[in-house]
Amino acid sequence: MGARMSKPAPKSFHVKSFGCQMNVYDGARMAELLEADGLTMAASADEADLVVLNTCHIREKAAEKVYSDIGRIVKQSRGRQQPMIAVAGCVAQAEGGEIPRRAPAVDIVVGPQAYHNLPALVADAAAGRKALDTDMPAISKFESLPKRRKQGPTAFLTVQEGCDKFCTYCVVPYTRGAEVSRPWGAIVDEAKALIDAGAREITLLGQNVNAWAGDDDAGRRHGLDGLIRALDGLPGLARIRYMTSHPNDMTEGLIAAHGDVETLMPFLHLPVQSGSDRILKAMNRSHTRDSYLAIIDRVRAVRPDIALSGDFIVGFPGETDADFEATLDIVRAVKHAQAFSFKYSPRAGTPAATMADQVAPELMDERLQRLQALINEQQQAFNAALVGRRTEILIERNGKKAGQRIGKSPWLQSVVVETAAAIGELVTAEIVSAGPNSLNGVLAEQQVAA
Ligand code: SAH
Ligand code: SF4
Ligand code: F3S
Repeated sequence: MGARMSKPAPKSFHVKSFGCQMNVYDGARMAELLEADGLTMAASADEADLVVLNTCHIREKAAEKVYSDIGRIVKQSRGRQQPMIAVAGCVAQAEGGEIPRRAPAVDIVVGPQAYHNLPALVADAAAGRKALDTDMPAISKFESLPKRRKQGPTAFLTVQEGCDKFCTYCVVPYTRGAEVSRPWGAIVDEAKALIDAGAREITLLGQNVNAWAGDDDAGRRHGLDGLIRALDGLPGLARIRYMTSHPNDMTEGLIAAHGDVETLMPFLHLPVQSGSDRILKAMNRSHTRDSYLAIIDRVRAVRPDIALSGDFIVGFPGETDADFEATLDIVRAVKHAQAFSFKYSPRAGTPAATMADQVAPELMDERLQRLQALINEQQQAFNAALVGRRTEILIERNGKKAGQRIGKSPWLQSVVVETAAAIGELVTAEIVSAGPNSLNGVLAEQQVAA
């Protein structure tokens, strides 16, 4: 990115985020930062002078998508000034200066720990200067971000970043760096700002969110459960969630919180990846099938109705039919209420990429289909079991038909209800029917009146 044709300083922007919720959070913070810098948000990339692609590097397909997106932006801008293009997120961190070499239309490359510098990088690019920042500075970017702005009833709040676990298939420890916890006070302040801005539900985020640790204002050490208990007392906050967690950091205190913190929702995303101890060892997961099941038992003992979710990888190098059957077994044993499942995708620089016995793509396809069919079946069963139950729904948006609203149950299912309740209100409804992806509810008061 040396001497180059500079593009005019942008007046409008569009941020497109891919990958995990942490990227969604970062995308929202970048938007706030650009707005504070005087730019306006455009409805789509086609109308923006600056397009930020906030990328994911987790699987090969996700990383390759960036280049096809850049190509599409360039193509669609023919006949008008080509927008300034910034690549942010995990591909930016992993590939750095390689990106503008491969895609010369890219003006800015900014890593996940450096995006507080985005306005300065935009100015650099407009002046024709090199605009690349993939530093992981000692001073956290959070210190220099603007205040949270008005938003909907649900909000993300990143409390922990990075990963020290080094699972043998995964790029996250390289793209996001070491595990770091944000300080207690900064988190509590941001939670209050989010509530003031309209949030009723906050999801605490981290690549290993349950590894969060920090000192409260009195200097007492806490884990994530302590933080959850502190947020539980904030006026106006109705619901707390957290993700993603690692089995090794599932402490007794956090499990206990699921039993007695009323605002902590009965949903736990706890990836297990495989049901085979041999594969878990090769993945460097440092938990076993049995140690995972023991955690689930303890969580269920304090919160029997909890919805369990997870991530699975099929076709990890060396995975045999028996290993795959063990994965199906653990899904049946845990009775996951939902889960994400992926075909193993080799990532350059990770140990698994060069392991022997890479699994044939057709076999991976077949295993993925079987696993997803089982998960769907269990999801349907979990949803169906709620029919007849009264529960609280947090209204999030309007439904397709007039008078319809869509909200979320405590177990994170979408629920369609007929109500005049405003977005952000909690209503009590009885679940009257359940499909694979959503439930239908009837307001409790309507039933009394009928
Ligand atoms: N920190 C979380 C999740 C991180 S990434 C955890 O420890 O579980 C989200 C999911 O992507 C992972 O749980 C894993 O299932 C999947 N994943 C990561 N790397 C992958 C790869 N190389 N191929 C396929 N799936 C992968
Ligand atoms: Fe990746 Fe494993 Fe870290 Fe999760 S725990 S982010 S899968 S290395
Ligand atoms: Fe993807 Fe980076 Fe998240 S690789 S899943 S965007 S941490």
